[in-house]
Amino acid sequence: MAAMPYPAGTLTNAKGHLEVGGCDVVDLAAAFGTPAYLFSVEEMRSRARAYMAAFSARTDDFEVLFASKALPVTAAYRLFAQEGLSVDVASGGELTMALAAGYEPGRIYMHGNNKTDSEIELVGASGVGHLIVDSFDEIERCERILEGPQDVLVRVTPGIKPSTHSFISTGQVDSKFGFALEDGTAARAIERLLDSKTLNLVGLHFHIGSQIFEIEPFRLAVASLATLSGDWCRTVDVGGGLGISYTQEDEPPEIETYVDLKFEAVREHFGDDVRILVEPGRSLVGTAGVTIYTVGTVKEIPGVRTYVAVDGGMSDNLRPMLYDARYEAVIANRAGDEADHVVTVAGSHCESGDILVRDVALADPKVGDILLTPATGAYGHSMANNYNGMPRPPVIFCEDGQATIVVRRETYEDLLARDA
Ligand code: LLP
Repeated sequence: MAAMPYPAGTLTNAKGHLEVGGCDVVDLAAAFGTPAYLFSVEEMRSRARAYMAAFSARTDDFEVLFASKALPVTAAYRLFAQEGLSVDVASGGELTMALAAGYEPGRIYMHGNNKTDSEIELVGASGVGHLIVDSFDEIERCERILEGPQDVLVRVTPGIKPSTHSFISTGQVDSKFGFALEDGTAARAIERLLDSKTLNLVGLHFHIGSQIFEIEPFRLAVASLATLSGDWCRTVDVGGGLGISYTQEDEPPEIETYVDLKFEAVREHFGDDVRILVEPGRSLVGTAGVTIYTVGTVKEIPGVRTYVAVDGGMSDNLRPMLYDARYEAVIANRAGDEADHVVTVAGSHCESGDILVRDVALADPKVGDILLTPATGAYGHSMANNYNGMPRPPVIFCEDGQATIVVRRETYEDLLARDA
């Protein structure tokens, strides 16, 4: 069994408390309250550097795009810009945050399967480098709104279905995303774009899914995409999707192995002259983040199970409910104690399905303990919500023992602020 999926450098200090990014998480809970998302800045940087180094060793014609839906936080955009990454935004909101963080517009790639008029206007007004075209209706809209020339890639659904949860695989034929390869729609879209006076087609894009461990399907996707290529194709964007460890049993491929496979596949099928783009989200930020909660209730139902309720739940982590995602948990103020009590960690929401982790072994959980769930850095904050009027947790960056609030906790006043 592998280790807990903590950020690198996480340790148990002399008090028996977990330390993330050099910060004692029990002290952070006391200072900033719970629930809270904590991030190891070093882990984010080292994952970004692993991507950059894996490509740099092979080519200088590449871009690594931070798929910002995984952690749309201005400070995260800023951090990945510093590391030399470009950025994938999938809405006007993400585009606004990328620009606010100082992203050079030429390094922004705009996605979305239903871009609105105002989002397309924002793309034009801010000088976004590339737009990834997703539908025939969008081509019409772009031609009406944009002055051009606007560089675009075309999103193709290559008909490859990797083994992951069906809700997060997007490359199969029956998908709301992009143009299907199999029925000739993608070829028609390319013909249409090559005729466009406003849109300048420069490349191809696919994204076949997320939390993928089995990387072979990427090779098949690249091979089928290549059947569409022509002289105009200077850029091949092979999407994101590399999985991470959520539990001790998970064994995802290394970033380097994954980059190698995608790089080799593009070289084999597209030759040496195309620029390669990847769009990692989860694998940049997932294991960098942990969530801390306070235990409020321990309810033992003899012969059935023990529920340990914490002060968050499906408002800060929807993934267990949406995807049956499995997490680890640990009592962070007694991290060195033996985990010998099998319990179910529940949230505080008015819903029986509000279960964060079922049947997990913890060190005799008690009211007031700080419970930590690792690997919540991707799609936790970004899918948080206000169910039951729950204010959303702060995002705190931890580095060398310094904790910085980069998104403050939502307040009850915030909940009333939009009342008209
Ligand atoms: N590029 C495109 C076009 C995407 O749609 C996505 C994710 C990515 C890149 C980044 O994929 P990643 O490297 O993070 O796997 N909410 C779900 C994940 C949905 C992913 C959507 N698209 C979850 O919590 O698992």
